[in-house]
Amino acid sequence: MSNSNNIKNQPIGIFDSGIGGLTVLAEIERLMPGENVVYFGDTARVPYGNKTSATVRKFSVENVLFLLEERVKMVVVACNTSSALALDYLNNIFRIPIIGVIESGVDKALAVTSGKIGIIGTKATIESRAYQRNIVKKNKKIEIFSRSCPLFVPLVEEGLTSGEITKKIIQMYLENFKKKKIDTIILGCTHYPLLKKEIAKYLPKVNIIDSAQEVASHAKGVLEHFRLANDKKAKGNKKFCISDEPKNFTNFAKSFLKRTISKPRVINV
Ligand code: DGL
Repeated sequence: MSNSNNIKNQPIGIFDSGIGGLTVLAEIERLMPGENVVYFGDTARVPYGNKTSATVRKFSVENVLFLLEERVKMVVVACNTSSALALDYLNNIFRIPIIGVIESGVDKALAVTSGKIGIIGTKATIESRAYQRNIVKKNKKIEIFSRSCPLFVPLVEEGLTSGEITKKIIQMYLENFKKKKIDTIILGCTHYPLLKKEIAKYLPKVNIIDSAQEVASHAKGVLEHFRLANDKKAKGNKKFCISDEPKNFTNFAKSFLKRTISKPRVINV
């Protein structure tokens, strides 16, 4: 086998603080079924969304170092918090392509909006203003509204993606967006696509930007650009690694991906 084929066969590395990045994995699997993937969910240290940027950077570097041990050919930072606080830092340190979720979400939002965008994310993501900066850099005329939604991650982690409590919390966080008549909302956290149905019911006719979908097509473009795409017809191998609690993770992954998964390897962080 030639050297370039060897590289193409190397896996894509994906990391998140926990289960949220599985929304990105699902899209990558759908778009590039032949790719091998190593998924790392830092379940011992979730949530990242209420930590300082120094801590999120440290965790993110460690996650990439772990994925490099798995010989990944590129890294998808499937976590908005890490993307907001650590992506540039990672790209200054490492030489393989590393992409985050923010830019792809912003590009899609700008393509569909008529001028009023709402952004939701973890406290750290919203306070970093990474989305706001990215939007303004590309279009100064957009009206931007943002809101951190710290209760969304625990709701998703507890499987409470519908029902009365969830509806009330969605209303509490998104009421102002409704009043302001936003036309587009960016789900700026990879856990949030799991609340998409309920968010769509509360904000009908609003474009919902799912960063998971957008980053998968960005990843495909990057692999093609660097001639790293695996064009094999056979389904790629998916390996799961986590830092704590394999049972919860496995149950969630099975129900979300609607299939069985290989036993996750628990690694020390
Ligand atoms: N999934 C992470 C994100 O996209 C957030 C979860 C967390 O707070 O760790 O920001």
